[in-house]
Amino acid sequence: MRVVIMGGTSGIGLATARRLADDGAEVIVTGRNPERLAAVKEVVAAEQVDSTSEEAVAAFFDRTGPFDHLVLAFSPGAAGLGPLADIGLADVRAAFDGKLFPYLFAVQRARVTGSITLVSASTARSALAGTVALAAVNGAIERMVSPLAAELAPVRVNAVSPGAVDTPWWDFLPREQRQAQFAAAAETVPAGRVGRPEDVAAAIRYLVDATYVTGSVLPVDGGFTVA
Ligand SMILES: NC(=O)c1ccc[n+]([C@@H]2O[C@H](COP(=O)([O-])OP(=O)(O)OC[C@H]3O[C@@H](n4cnc5c(N)ncnc54)[C@H](OP(=O)(O)O)[C@@H]3O)[C@@H](O)[C@H]2O)c1
Repeated sequence: MRVVIMGGTSGIGLATARRLADDGAEVIVTGRNPERLAAVKEVVAAEQVDSTSEEAVAAFFDRTGPFDHLVLAFSPGAAGLGPLADIGLADVRAAFDGKLFPYLFAVQRARVTGSITLVSASTARSALAGTVALAAVNGAIERMVSPLAAELAPVRVNAVSPGAVDTPWWDFLPREQRQAQFAAAAETVPAGRVGRPEDVAAAIRYLVDATYVTGSVLPVDGGFTVA
């Protein structure tokens, strides 16, 4: 089984790469930061590809050729986070340009034969102040899963939708503020804790294997969106 994980050098993508490699898959990860790429030892290749560069992404998929499963696990971090009154439209555009459009382009160009799993976010279906742009981006990603599953069949298309997960995505916050935010989040979710990257990796692993599951969005949020 050959798997490409775009955004596979940190957090959720990295945990997924490790999980699949442990299970015997040939995993190719992509990212931008050369130190992060060099640190991923478990994979058959770690390639420097800026996912927002259509030229680089097209060249990557051309040289990679056909493969079984694609996982899209990158984002521009906290771009667009904040109340709409405080952010500019440039921030909103950065949120779309760093995730929705490159996800669409990767889906167009990848020569996948088995499945595509998109990583969205629970902001798509919640009512958290300060997440309008993130909700718009991830809502668009979640909404396109079912028509994509219809268009690309027999390739399966699914999404995992994480709640707060302890990854470097949160590094924009000072350590103490991050811990306070995680403690507050843990109190509000039925699972009683924030997520670990491995929690989401296990859900992606399931979807990669689940040959009768397509067009679905699987929340992996400790119950946040049902709480
Ligand atoms: N952590 C959370 O609480 C949370 C919650 C809900 C949803 N999510 C979603 O989960 C996904 C993974 O997030 P994470 O928490 O694992 O974040 P992370 O730890 O910051 O990892 C992001 C990964 O994406 C790569 N990346 C980012 N921009 C890229 C670009 N333009 N080109 C190539 N690679 C790029 C990074 O590599 P480089 O640094 O080398 O670019 C890194 O490998 C994202 O879509 C995020 O929106 C996260």
